[in-house]
This record gives sequence, C-alpha cells and structure tokens, in this order.
Amino acid sequence: MSELLRDLFGLDDDVVVVAGGAGRIGRVLCRALAQAGANVAILDLADQTEQLAADIAAATNRKAIALRYDLTSADELARARDALEQRLGPATVLINCAQFRGQGFYSSAPEKYPREAWERVLETNLTAVHLACQIFGGRMAERGTGRIVNFSSTYGVVSADPRIYGDSGVNSPIAYGVSKAGVIGLTRYLAVHWAPQGVRVNCLVPGGVYDGQDPAFVANYTARTPLGRMAAAEDYQGPVLFLASRASAYMTGAVLTVDGGWTAW
Ligand SMILES: NC(=O)c1ccc[n+]([C@@H]2O[C@H](COP(=O)([O-])OP(=O)(O)OC[C@H]3O[C@@H](n4cnc5c(N)ncnc54)[C@H](O)[C@@H]3O)[C@@H](O)[C@H]2O)c1
Repeated sequence: MSELLRDLFGLDDDVVVVAGGAGRIGRVLCRALAQAGANVAILDLADQTEQLAADIAAATNRKAIALRYDLTSADELARARDALEQRLGPATVLINCAQFRGQGFYSSAPEKYPREAWERVLETNLTAVHLACQIFGGRMAERGTGRIVNFSSTYGVVSADPRIYGDSGVNSPIAYGVSKAGVIGLTRYLAVHWAPQGVRVNCLVPGGVYDGQDPAFVANYTARTPLGRMAAAEDYQGPVLFLASRASAYMTGAVLTVDGGWTAW
C-alpha cells in the first residue's frame, strides 16, 4: 500500500465490530477490514462465528475474535462490549450488517403480513441497530472518536418491485423495506447528534447479492439493473472500507448507494 492509500484507507489502529459479521456480506467485510489492518470482532450468533474468526486471524495476521451474543438484547450487547474491551480494547468502528430472515419473513402480501414476523424484522433490522449504536457508539461518543456504518438496502429507498419475483418463492416483504428506511433515519439522527463528539455515522444502501437464487428471478433482477448483474458480497468491501476509514473524513449522515444503478431510474 502506498503512503497515501495507507493514510486514507489503513485501519491499523482500529478495533472494528461487525454485527452480523458471520453473514454472507459480513464475513467478506470482516476479512477485508482485517486485511486493511484492523483487529476485528465478529458479533453474531451463527455457529460458524468462531471458525470464521480463526480463519481470518490466520489469513491476515490480525486479531479476530468471535462475540456470540444476541443483537436484540441490550444486556447481551453490553456483555459483548465488555468482552470486546477486555480482549481487543474499545471499538473505534461499528458495522451493522445483520438482518432477520427467519420464520414468516417471506410472506409477502401486505394485507396478510403476520404481525409476529413484522416485529421480528423490525427488532433485528432496526431496534438492534439502535441498541448496538447506543452501546458501542455511546462509548465512542464518550471517547470522542468513532465511525459507524449502517446497512440499509435499495428497498429502504424505493419499494421492492413485485414484478421481478414472479413465482420464484423469493420476495421482499413490507417489514423489510420499512426497517431499512428506518435505518436511514436512525443514521441521520445519530450523525447530527454525535458530530460534536467526533463520531461519524453513515449508511450504505446495497443492492441484491447473487446467492444461487431462482434463475427467473436473477434474470429479472439483472434486466432491471443498469450494470447488468446482481452484486457480489465483494462489491461492498470498497464502500465499507471507505466509510470506515479516514478516506470519508468529511462524511456523516450520508447515504451511499451501491446498487448497480437499481435506484437510478
Ligand atoms: N444480501 C443482499 O442481497 C442484501 C441486499 C441489500 C441489503 N442487504 C443488507 O446487508 C446486510 C447483510 O446481508 P447478508 O445477506 O450478509 O445477511 P445474512 O442473512 O447472510 O447475515 C445476517 C447475519 O446476521 C446474524 N444475525 C441475525 N440476527 C441476529 C441476532 N439477533 N444476533 C446476532 N446475530 C444475528 C445472522 O446469524 C447472520 O450471520 C443486511 O443488513 C441486509 O439487510 C443485503
């Protein structure tokens, strides 16, 4: 890395917590953040979290630890923060990239969407982001420095387009878009309120990641995307490194759209 690139994007002094870090996008981000020099904590309930941390530590020569705590519980998040501070020191960067897609999630008709699923989606996708910001970001505000990157979605900016789903069995329900729109509002509020304490809070708006979905869905999604493909998780490494590093020093409260042009028309 040249000196300029290291000054802009290097994370050698950083401790990064990635909430949802064992997910499809999160695990790619954890590795990229460690490659940029950070020590990384993977905050996720998934079984593979410890193995992922061990693999990243071995591949990058940085510290990588698993924090197996439930993001929807303030008590568990406080325990996660204490464990982090004992093992790696206080977080300087928080990436919020968890999501709920469990039971009931895929029911699509808004008039029949189950309340239980609605509450689970909002609890994980919005309330847990608020709690993680309170608990990790609150400490950043006390310490006078930090960066937070919250994952929204194209569906937090525009509606899901029901035409692309057909009979694929894949769809995106009302609660998802609502939760992701909420993340944008949360980001702007915290950006304004924590700017005086040196905490920058920005939001990433990703488009859909290819994950072996139904071919008809993939064809429809691709045809509607100006860049002519679905995303790969790797497409979000650069934008997240940008928002997590000094390269974005003059940005806060911003919504960075990385969607292959999906929302451009
Ligand atoms: N994948 C996409 O196509 C896409 C598109 C737009 C936006 N996004 C957003 O990007 C982010 C990452 O997406 P992804 O596809 O990697 O998600 P994913 O479903 O693969 O991973 C989510 C992770 O969050 C963890 N998690 C969920 N609830 C938790 C809880 N209560 N406590 C601890 N961990 C919990 C899961 O264990 C999982 O590892 C999400 O916020 C998602 O909404 C994804």
